[in-house]
Parts: sequence; structure tokens; C-alpha cells
Amino acid sequence: MSSNQSALISRPGPALDLGRIRADFPILKLQPGGKPLVYLDNAASSQMPQQVIDRLVRYQTTQHSNIHRAVHTLSEIATAEYEEARRKLARFINAREEREVIFTSGTTEAINLAMHGYGRKFIGAGDEIILTTLEHHANIVPWQMLAEEKGAKLRVVPINDAGELLIDEYEALFTTRTRLVGVAHVSNALGSVNPVKRMIAFARAHGVPVLVDGAQAVPHLQVDVQDLDCDFYAFSGHKLCGPTGIGVLYGKAALLERMQPFKGGGDMILSVTFEKTTYTVIPQKFEAGTPPIAAAIGLGAAVDYLSAIGMEAIGSHENGLLAYATAQLERMPGVRIIGTAAEKAAVLSFALDGVHPHDVGTLLNQDGVAVRTGHHCAQPVMQRYRVPATSRASFAFYNTMAEVDALVAGIRNVQKVFC
Ligand SMILES: Cc1ncc(COP(=O)(O)O)c(C=O)c1O
Repeated sequence: MSSNQSALISRPGPALDLGRIRADFPILKLQPGGKPLVYLDNAASSQMPQQVIDRLVRYQTTQHSNIHRAVHTLSEIATAEYEEARRKLARFINAREEREVIFTSGTTEAINLAMHGYGRKFIGAGDEIILTTLEHHANIVPWQMLAEEKGAKLRVVPINDAGELLIDEYEALFTTRTRLVGVAHVSNALGSVNPVKRMIAFARAHGVPVLVDGAQAVPHLQVDVQDLDCDFYAFSGHKLCGPTGIGVLYGKAALLERMQPFKGGGDMILSVTFEKTTYTVIPQKFEAGTPPIAAAIGLGAAVDYLSAIGMEAIGSHENGLLAYATAQLERMPGVRIIGTAAEKAAVLSFALDGVHPHDVGTLLNQDGVAVRTGHHCAQPVMQRYRVPATSRASFAFYNTMAEVDALVAGIRNVQKVFC
């Protein structure tokens, strides 16, 4: 397509004060190879604003000590700040109670916690777990391990060519042996926003708990776990402008209380003798050992930052970026968008005729444009579309329409080189 045609596609004005927002992100000032960084790999990990970096520095320089363990002042401060971070996260997802927020190292550990704590106790031989084709490996492999251990079965909800779950088929998968549903709120490979509220309501009517993998949803949508009525909700801090090494498993208190601990050690016990250990209450029952204190406090600062901008404004700006980028790519000959669901968030996966995605990523990188190429830890999605990999641009609220233009120009360069 000519650049004239591209000019016909209107570029909506930003819903956010992007100049001010971008100034908060030191890394966005980088110029790799002399070209301005165009960071479009936010689904893998987003960037951290100065406010979060400053909070980490303040914690490390003036507040650090171990928590829950001493009466000295620093330990009391660190404990109070860590628990305040839990309150902030509970408010961010509208959990009923802060003890329903368990800090984990990320989404992967959160799902593994649910598998060990809930699955190993309540799922047995012949039982069934419903997953979807759209899951990240983090919401497949733990359940597969459990199924192998217990003799349980995985049942998988198919998708249509657009990358939307077939809800009739989902409902048809329920049997008297269904014990759990695991579903991504937003697909990391395609960006499809799944109808999780409706799926949860159906599962609830069958008495089946639902775990929602929210890793790709919390950065873009206003998530309300009470409104969704999910039993578990898992997400990672590093996709939410927070640090790596921290994440959350939200669980309904009554369910968490019935679960067995995942890890044993300090801080999760009431009493220990060599004959018997008794466990403490939630959330500490699931937070054995010294937790990532600084990272939790940093994540608290990150959700403060996002809340101050407003998740609705964030989502609407990102939808504008996605719509603009989609409109450009779908008019480009030789470009195939993979994942065209009616409801999408922040992710644009594509394939270029005759060009391997790794070559796309390498050449875009030379133009300063950072995208992800590969299977995105979602091999069943790749198998469904019969592609080994895709190129994936993923947007955050600090991205601009000009950066979408840079992506499109970069793709044209790739096509010039290869086609
Ligand atoms: C949908 C989804 N689930 C789970 C994960 C795993 O997250 P983490 O590596 O932070 O544990 C990711 C990461 O990309 C993801 O996109």
C-alpha cells in the first residue's frame, strides 16, 4: 500500500497527556542504534515509571528489613508498607478482603499455587479440568502435571478462526466430573478478550470454580473480581509497570481457607514440632519464607500510578492504538493479522508472507522497533493457526500513534528487503 493510502487512515488524538506520561518513563528516552526506542513488547513486560523506581529506592535506602518477625522500628515499617501494598492490590482488583490477595512471584507461580493448593487436594482420578485453546503455557502445564499425577483429564474449549472461544462448546464440555475451569481473561498471543463473566456464571451454576489468568488483562482493563465472581485471579507485576519477581493470586477467602499450603517454611505456621505442624491463617499460609518485600511495595506504587491515570482512560487510549494499527496492517498486501476477535485488547499478532517472524523482529529492531516474535508460550494457538510463530506488537498506555506509524514503516522496510 502506498504512503498516500496510509495517510487516509485517520490518526485519533490521544485520550491521555502522553507528553507528561512519557516523561515519567526514563527507558523510553533510549535511542538504540541512534533511533528512538519504539517499545511494543508490553505484553511480555511493560516499563517502569520513575515513581515506582523512586519508591523502590526509598524502600531500600530507608525502610528495608525483614517483615513480620521483629519489634524493631525498621521491621515494623517494612511490615506496614508490605501490608499496605497488599491493601492497594486488593483495592485495585476490588477484592472483598485484603487477605484474599496472596503475593507470589508472578502469574506462573500463582497458577502453580492454585494447582498445588486446590488441585492436588480436590481433583482426583477421572475428574476433568476445562481449559481453552487460548491459554498461555502457564495455565496449561501445571494442570497437565496435575492430570498426570492424579489420572484426571483436560478438556479444551476450541476457538473460531477469529480467535474467539466457542461458548456453546465450552458449555457442552461440562459433566458431573468437571472440577475446575482455567481461562485467560485476555489472550497474550492474539489479544482476544474472553467472555469470562459469562463463563464464570455458567460454571458457578454447575458448582465449578474458575481460575482466571489475568496476566494480560490487569494492565488494560478495569478488573473487578467481585463483579466477575471468579474464584481465583492471577497476574504479574512486571506487566503492570511494577518490578519482576512479584505477582498476585487472588482467591475467595472461603476457598483459600480450605486449600492446603503450597510451600512449607517460616511465616506460614502456627506451631511446629517434629511430630506435627499447624498452619497459620491466610494470606500468610501461602507466603512461606521471606517474600519479595521491595517488589510488593513497588507493585503497590505501580497500581497507585495506574489508578491516578485511570484504567478507563488507559484502556481507551490503547484501544485507539490497536484500532489505528489494525486499520493500517489490514490494508497492507502480504500482511495477515492473526487474531481478529470482535473484542481485543492491546495485542496485534501478524505474519508477513514469505518472511520468518524472527527476520521481521530482527529488521524491526534495526529501526528501533521492539516487538516479540515466537510462539509466545502459546503453542496450541500457533498449532490452531498452523504457523510456527507470529510477530506481535503489544501496546501500553505510553505508546503513541507516531509509534504505530514507525511500526508500519518498519514492516514496509522488511517487505522491501524480503519481497
Ligand atoms: C496470559 C499469560 N499468562 C501467564 C503468563 C506468565 O507470566 P509470568 O511469566 O509473569 O509468570 C504470561 C506471560 O506472558 C501471560 O501472558
